[in-house]
Amino acid sequence: LSPAIEAARSLIRTIPDYPKQGVQFRDITPLMADAQALRDCVEALIEPFSGRFDLVAGVEARGFLLAGSAAMVAGVGLAPLRKAGKLPRPAASVNYDLEYGTATIEASEDIIPGMRVLLLDDVLATGGTLAAGRALIEKMGAEVAGTAVLMELEGLGGRTLVPEVHALFSM
Ligand code: PRP
Ligand code: HPA
Repeated sequence: LSPAIEAARSLIRTIPDYPKQGVQFRDITPLMADAQALRDCVEALIEPFSGRFDLVAGVEARGFLLAGSAAMVAGVGLAPLRKAGKLPRPAASVNYDLEYGTATIEASEDIIPGMRVLLLDDVLATGGTLAAGRALIEKMGAEVAGTAVLMELEGLGGRTLVPEVHALFSM
């Protein structure tokens, strides 16, 4: 890891027994609250895909935090992939399994066929969310230009479901 990403990783806060007994929750909020770490991580997330995407998509809710910053830095627009029922006129939806339940994400018609979309989220755990995000972008007729996360959680099999993911660090 580069010193900048190592420093950002050191800010992750581990919360025992959240959201249930035995789970070590990796909390990204201290990293997001640090100006330098936020900038370094956003730049590192988009760097491998530089010049090869037209839009950034983020998955609700924590993915929005990164996608907004990344779109501004890259000089492209932003599309939210939202939990069911939040978009006034969803154009497509995908159901998926989560580590702690099931969910649906939806996209608006602003993801246009042929667009190259960079998909961002905070964490790769089981991979269900990012696999669903990729499927949703493709369902819209757009191209997934890349998939990137801050952190890959080890031992949950996420990389099996999303082998192409660019993760800044693992825990
Ligand atoms: C978390 C996290 C990722 C997803 C990772 O979101 O922000 O989106 O889970 O898990 P997976 O790889 O097993 O799918 P969550 O659904 O908890 O929603 P939030 O961002 O609203 O907290
Ligand atoms: N941290 C943050 N997000 C998560 C985690 C975690 O440990 N597990 C599933 N989503």
